[in-house]
Amino acid sequence: MSSIVILGAQWGDEGKGRITDLLASHVDMVVRFQGGNNAGHTVVLNGNEFKLHLIPSGILYPDVVCIIGNGVVINPEVLIEELDDLGKKEINADNLRISCNAHLVMPYHIILDKACEHGLGKSKIGTTHKGIGPVYADKASRSGIRVQDLLDEKIFKTKLEESLKLKNAIISKIYGLKPLELGEVFDKYMGYVERIGKYITETSFLINKALDMNKTVLFEGAQGTLLDIDHGTYPFVTSSSTIAGGACVGAGVGPNRIDEVLGVVKAYTTRVGSGPFPTEEKTDIGDYLREKGNEYGTTTGRPRRCGWLDSIVLKYSVMINSIKSIAITKLDILSGIKKIKICIGYKYEGKVFKDLPPHQTIMHKCQPVYEELEGWEEDIGSINKFNELPLEARSYISRIEEIINIPVSMISVGAERKKIIIKDKNLKRRLFKREKNPTTVV
Ligand code: GDP
Ligand code: IMO
Ligand code: MG
Repeated sequence: MSSIVILGAQWGDEGKGRITDLLASHVDMVVRFQGGNNAGHTVVLNGNEFKLHLIPSGILYPDVVCIIGNGVVINPEVLIEELDDLGKKEINADNLRISCNAHLVMPYHIILDKACEHGLGKSKIGTTHKGIGPVYADKASRSGIRVQDLLDEKIFKTKLEESLKLKNAIISKIYGLKPLELGEVFDKYMGYVERIGKYITETSFLINKALDMNKTVLFEGAQGTLLDIDHGTYPFVTSSSTIAGGACVGAGVGPNRIDEVLGVVKAYTTRVGSGPFPTEEKTDIGDYLREKGNEYGTTTGRPRRCGWLDSIVLKYSVMINSIKSIAITKLDILSGIKKIKICIGYKYEGKVFKDLPPHQTIMHKCQPVYEELEGWEEDIGSINKFNELPLEARSYISRIEEIINIPVSMISVGAERKKIIIKDKNLKRRLFKREKNPTTVV
C-alpha cells in the first residue's frame, strides 16, 4: 500500500484533519487536492489547537512533506497567516510545497462571492465568503490567474489588468460597489512572492516520484461528498470535486495510483449553509449536539445545523468514492443520549426511498424513516479498545456497519490525537505495509 485518500462522507467537518493527523505519523507525504480556505481542519495536540485552512494536516510532523496540489485554490494572504501561526507555535513548514498550477483567489473573487450571496437573498447557498465559487468559475472559463503567474511580473500584470476590466465593471455597475485599483492589487500580490515563492514547484512530479519510490502518500480531502460539485446536493455545494476521483485530478496522479479510500463519518450529521438535510433536528437534540459537540464552523464560526446519522447519504458516499472502510468520529458526543436514531429511508408521497432519490425535492420534503437504538450514559473519552465500549455503543457501530455494508476501521472518542480506538487490527498493516521511507523527495 502506498497511497490512501481520506475524505468526508457527509457535508464536511467530519474530522478529516483529526484523522489525517493521526495517520500522518505513518506517511511520507500529505497532499491537499481541492478546495481552498473554505476548509477548516482542526488538529488538537497536547491541548494545542491547530486550525488549518490550506496547509495539509500532516504539517505537525517535521518529516512529512506537505503538498498543496494543483486542484486547490490559494489565497496567499491566508496561506501566509497560516505559516505565521505555525511559526509562532514553533512548527516548521520547510517541507511545504505549492503547485505552480493552483489557482489564486483574488480580492474580486471574495467581493463577488459576498455580493452574489447577498443578491440571492433567501435562496443563498450560505458560502464561506472566501471567493471559492468565483475562483473555480474563472478556472473553468480559462480566465483564472495561477500561482506560477506570480513568478512573472509582466504576465501577472497583464492577466490582472484583463481580469479587472470585467470584474470591476461587474463590481461597480451591477453591485454598485467600489472597483479595485490595479496598482494596489498588483503590489499586494507581488509582495506575497517573497514569502511563498520558495515553496512553488511542479508538485505532480514530486507526488509521482514519491509513489515511484514506494513512499506512502496520503491525499487529504476537504469538504465532503455531499458538497461535491457533481455528486452533492447542487446548488448547495462547494465548487470543487470533493470525491476520491478528485484526488487524481487535483494532485496529478493516475487512478491506479490510489490504493485505498477511507471515509470519515461523524457519529451524527452536521451541515453549514443552506440545502437539504433530511435528518436535521431543529429541536433540543439538535441544540444538544451543537453545544456538546461544539458544532460551530472552524472557518466562519457559524453554528452548524445538526441531526441524526443518515445511512442513505453514507451508502451513496461509499459507492461514489469506493470507500473501503470508515473512521467514525465524535462518538463521545453521543454519550448521555437515551435513544439514538439512524435514518434508513426517506418517505415521500407514500413511497420509501432506500437510496438517494432521483430528484432533490424528495430530499427537501421527505420524512426520514428511523431505526432507534438504545443510547449509553458512560463517558467514553478515555476508552481505547473496542470491546471496552458500552454494549450500546458497540451495537450502534455494528448496526452502521451492517446498514452500509463496509467495516468501521477506527473510532475517534476525542479531539486529541491519542483518543482513538483502532477497531480493524489489520488496518495499519494494510495501509502502511512498510516503515517510513527516509530518502528525500524534495
Ligand atoms: P474537518 O473539517 O473534517 O477536518 O473537521 P473540523 O475540524 O472542521 O471539525 C471537527 C471538530 O471536531 C474539530 O473541532 C475537532 O477537533 C473535533 N473532533 C474530531 N474528532 C473528535 C472526536 O472524536 N471527539 C470530539 N469530541 N471532538 C472531535
Ligand atoms: P471542511 O474541509 C463544511 C460549505 C459552505 C456552503 C457550501 C459552499 O472544513 O470540511 P463555499 O464557500 O465552498 O462556496 O461554500 O459549502 N462548505 C463547508 N462546510 N466544511 C467545509 O470544509 C466546507 N467548505 C465549504 O458552508 O454551504
Ligand atoms: Mg472543517
